[in-house]
Amino acid sequence: KQDIRILAIESSCDETSAAICENGKILSNYIAGQAVHEQYGGVVPELASRAHMQNIVPVVHAALQAAGKQLTDMDAIAFTQAPGLIGSLLVGGQFAKSLALALDKPLIAVHHMQAHVLANLIEDPQPEFPFLCLTVSGGHTQIVLAHSPLHLEVLGETIDDAAGEAFDKTAKLLGLPYPGGPLVDKYAQTGNPKAFTFAEPQIPELNFSFSGLKTSVLYFLQAQTKANPQFVSENVADLCASVQHTIINILLKKVKKAVQQTGIKRICIAGGVSANSGLRNRLKEMGEQQGWQTFIPSFQYCTDNAGMIAITAYHQYLGGKFVTLDVGPSARSEW
Ligand code: KG4
Ligand code: ZN
Repeated sequence: KQDIRILAIESSCDETSAAICENGKILSNYIAGQAVHEQYGGVVPELASRAHMQNIVPVVHAALQAAGKQLTDMDAIAFTQAPGLIGSLLVGGQFAKSLALALDKPLIAVHHMQAHVLANLIEDPQPEFPFLCLTVSGGHTQIVLAHSPLHLEVLGETIDDAAGEAFDKTAKLLGLPYPGGPLVDKYAQTGNPKAFTFAEPQIPELNFSFSGLKTSVLYFLQAQTKANPQFVSENVADLCASVQHTIINILLKKVKKAVQQTGIKRICIAGGVSANSGLRNRLKEMGEQQGWQTFIPSFQYCTDNAGMIAITAYHQYLGGKFVTLDVGPSARSEW
């Protein structure tokens, strides 16, 4: 039998997603968000698990239907095993295991952060190996050296907050609703990125730090609001543009350093923050200036999605990397 068809499930945080992959091509990628968290200003783990329970059957159905496939067409079942919220991971993991058992098909456990990187293998043009990937999400910020699909090496990462947290916490300070990252992006588009300057941390090697930025934004806003209580509302676009500019500077300086250290000039981005229009534009510009080849996934493969789990599972299938039914979820991000 020639074709390899995989059903992949992602449920690590607050998105329930299912995707179908055939021979490394994504046939469908269905994503259901969870509006329930908005009123709390952040993801509530218990509510996320319950929403996954409600969503998982219809989401898997929708992915199969969009691909024109049936469960019995699948050659393997894949799921996100780590990292993430334990209760959320359990829902997708147990569902995947039940399907694998009932269908008598192999089971594939996928690491969410590796999958973000391999999202760059979904669409054309694809990067050749080795390549560098800046992975920027709500929980992680990493520079990864991808030697091959199954050999990824973390060269540097954040020592405190993730880039996504810097966006979300800035949004909160500005009184914007959760999740704030996309809103900061939206307001930044009409603001002046040089209106205000915020210090960039000096962190050794290829590591990052974002907690200081959040504090300096807080102190700056407190001082300005004392003088003018309307300061935030009058300057929201400039504030978003300036903070976003600083975050992108911090990220791209390290990418440049990683290119210098490794000599690799194929640069990918991944993770929710790679949906940011400022980051996408400036990486492209920098690539043109520096003679790099840059790869930017389409939006649906940047934020959490099962398409990236499916493509990673496909490579694990080819490499014979399966798990048994006793595998459990893990909140930890080491790989
Ligand atoms: O990868 P992701 O969907 O989930 C995690 O694995 O964490 O990333 C979510 C993060 C959130 O912090 C969200 O605010 C941020 O990605 N994000 C953005 C944008 N879209 C999502 N940040 C800045 N600009 C955006 N357009
Ligand atoms: Zn993610």
